[in-house]
Amino acid sequence: MQTHEIRERFTDHFVKAGHEAVPSASLILEDPDLLFVNAGMVPFKPYFLGEQNPPFKNGTATSIQKCVRTLDIDEVGITTRHNTFFQMAGNFSFGQYFKEGAIKHAWALLTNPVSEGGYGLDPERLWVTVYLDDDEAADIWENVVGIPAERIQRLGMADNYWHMGVPGPCGPCSEIYFDRGPEHGAEGGPAVDDTRYLEIWNLVFMEKERGKSTGPDTFEIIGDLPKKNIDTGMGVERVACLLQGVDNVYETDLLRPVIDAAEEITGAKYEGDGPDAIRFRVIADHSRTGMMLILDGVTPSNEGRGYILRRLLRRIIRSARLLGATGETMERFMTVIMDTMTPSYPEIAENRERIIRTAVTEERAFLKTLESGTHRFDEAASAIKEQGITQFSGEDAFTLHDTYGFPLDLTLEMAAEAGLEVDVAGFEAAMSEQRARAKADNLAKKHGHADVSVYREWVDNNPTEFVGFSDLTADATVLGLVINGQSVTQAVEGDDVEVILDVSPLYAESGGQTADRGRLVSEGTILEVNDVQKVGKKLWVHKAKVTAGGIELGQRVSAEVDEAWRHGARQAHTGTHLIHAALREVLGPTAVQAGSLNRPGYLRFDFNYTEQLTPEQLEEISTIANQAVDADFPVNTIETTLDEAKKMGAMALFGENYGNDVRVVEIGGPFSIELCGGTHTEHTSQIGPVAVLGESSVGSGARRIEAYSGMDSFRYLSKEAALASGLAASLKAPSEELPERIASLTEKLRAAEKEIANLHRQQLASQTGALLDQAVEAGQFTVLTHRLPDGVSGGDLRTVATDLRGRLAGKPGVVVLASADGGKLPFIVGATKEAIELGVKSGELVKLLSGYVDGRGGGKPDMAQGSGSNAEGLDAGFRAVREELAGL
Ligand code: ALA
Repeated sequence: MQTHEIRERFTDHFVKAGHEAVPSASLILEDPDLLFVNAGMVPFKPYFLGEQNPPFKNGTATSIQKCVRTLDIDEVGITTRHNTFFQMAGNFSFGQYFKEGAIKHAWALLTNPVSEGGYGLDPERLWVTVYLDDDEAADIWENVVGIPAERIQRLGMADNYWHMGVPGPCGPCSEIYFDRGPEHGAEGGPAVDDTRYLEIWNLVFMEKERGKSTGPDTFEIIGDLPKKNIDTGMGVERVACLLQGVDNVYETDLLRPVIDAAEEITGAKYEGDGPDAIRFRVIADHSRTGMMLILDGVTPSNEGRGYILRRLLRRIIRSARLLGATGETMERFMTVIMDTMTPSYPEIAENRERIIRTAVTEERAFLKTLESGTHRFDEAASAIKEQGITQFSGEDAFTLHDTYGFPLDLTLEMAAEAGLEVDVAGFEAAMSEQRARAKADNLAKKHGHADVSVYREWVDNNPTEFVGFSDLTADATVLGLVINGQSVTQAVEGDDVEVILDVSPLYAESGGQTADRGRLVSEGTILEVNDVQKVGKKLWVHKAKVTAGGIELGQRVSAEVDEAWRHGARQAHTGTHLIHAALREVLGPTAVQAGSLNRPGYLRFDFNYTEQLTPEQLEEISTIANQAVDADFPVNTIETTLDEAKKMGAMALFGENYGNDVRVVEIGGPFSIELCGGTHTEHTSQIGPVAVLGESSVGSGARRIEAYSGMDSFRYLSKEAALASGLAASLKAPSEELPERIASLTEKLRAAEKEIANLHRQQLASQTGALLDQAVEAGQFTVLTHRLPDGVSGGDLRTVATDLRGRLAGKPGVVVLASADGGKLPFIVGATKEAIELGVKSGELVKLLSGYVDGRGGGKPDMAQGSGSNAEGLDAGFRAVREELAGL
């Protein structure tokens, strides 16, 4: 049975049982705790927690969710059970059926004959596990379903208590396993061997909420969820293995074609279980995950999601090369995986070109990196050899990894070819230092993520009515007050307090638009509102300071939006839509939005695009946006369904979740149609001029346009004009000639600097001979130790030292020179042939001197160089060198 059919049967089964079929959410949801959606339940989290009511007619739903788990990228391919991308088919009950319902539904689908819509698995080969003390689930399996007691096993927290790994809903679970037979491992059920007994479905009895971690594998339980829920996850890929009679996921219809393509491109054979086989699997797994991430708007970069994508793509390229590929491979791999995935994800079809372009751009960049990294490796390796060392330092290996994206195994391999070892422990140390830094960053981010349980009561019973699209003031009742995470009954002057109202005209931050500023007032009382955030989608939390009087529950207040603030925010937000529309007109539809921010007077818009925009393109975008202002288009908002909105041509945005009702903002007919919940001007002329500041890169593959709107545009433009005329006056040139003028000045300056450097060198050379007068006798040697004037570079030192050494030729002579150059102290030692014959090694003298000037360096017996940082030790260092020579 093909994977696509397995998916369809799943959905049909649960729709027949009254569930609402919900499409997969994007892999990227706005959840600060999660890099990617990693389980079917993630989009439903607010319903489990009770932050929102589930919008499904029977309180039940089913979905087949795209999931990515990238914790153990390095393990991929070593075992055949885990993929970084997989599809989790699930059914969900929000306070409806519980354990018995979930168990019966799953059993029926797995064991019903194929002719009746099921998967037709042999019931005799199914085993189940339950949580230690979950007698209820064990009883249902044994007495309602009829599984013999010996095929029901009880396991502990680690196996049978499911949670998200971060705060959220959780509960005991029951897993269903299929016995693949004795050729796959030992008897004894899943408790003994989870390769032979393959887990295919996890039923979670979601009834608790977990809080923060208290240890590596432990966490606190905050309390019961408002209702008892069901969350299940069936691994579509694993069921596909069983129903296609193949040994592992890499042999299924979705992945095997990529392996076939890799065989063809590389000339290698996929067989056995050695390193080559692992490479084939890495290519297959990562191609799919990479493709699906790009589909959902991720572009390669050096942090967060973008970094994961980059790692995946680079591992593909590297694996292909190790298998024997010589040219580019990415386009082929992406094409094949898009072909196998499109039946289940038809939206791939309209994104093919963008996906290929993103992957191929990364491939080209990495192939170049590979070249410059190899260059860097060769340099480091020959320096090491010159010093007579055989170990490549951990630091160098880390730089190759960090700057050039070289995986350690690549460095190891190249080192081995060069006859060197690598200080792996040093590399690991540098890596773990970097990881510790990343972890600290993450913790800091999470800290800002408040525990929302205090708001639950209002979320359930009193969602905020937002009236701010039409009104800027509203009479409201204070329903809740929160200080430092605690619900309180009153607040007094000076307090920072979060206020929950029944009605609010203040816009809460979302969709890139910052929150309104405003005030809450009643007689004798003033609160300044400096932020408004949403909990879930429906509760507005006003963060305010009491600046006069006091406030208490039940009090009536007038909630007022700061009109000037709102005016500016509307200008910026509508301006953002114009820029977006202009951008797509100039760059085409592949310039997909990747994020935006608008606050009064300023807007910024990020989009996926791999090339830098030309000044002409930027000018064109700016012109189109300002023409739209000039055309004074009306701005219309329409409340409709997602389907209708898509039919109207509304751009479906990155990170968008399902949900039936949407708001469409339309400007100038087809010019701009977007899904948007923000506040806008009524006409485009109200935006005022849009002054584009420029564009820049935000990680490879994504770019950013920034602009001012309204009066800020005007101020910016007039400042620029004043600047240009000031420059024109001081350079005595009309402003249109400024670029040329400045270019020629720069040119002259550069020539003058070069000239000065030359003179400097000549001057040094003319003094060189005189320096020899300062040479002294030390034992059998003529030694010159001398500090040259400041500012002589390491290269020039070498020239002077070579000259002086030449003049000493014929006798045992040693030259030691140094100069303070910037914060550094380059120094050099040169020795004549006769000196070397008497046992002088310049490299060792450099090391000796290094000890006095906090430096390092090395080289050959006739010439060695170093660099220090402490000029004060130089005299003592020179003395030590002379004494050393006197003693030889
Ligand atoms: N949420 C459960 C899981 O991911 C079904 O295994």
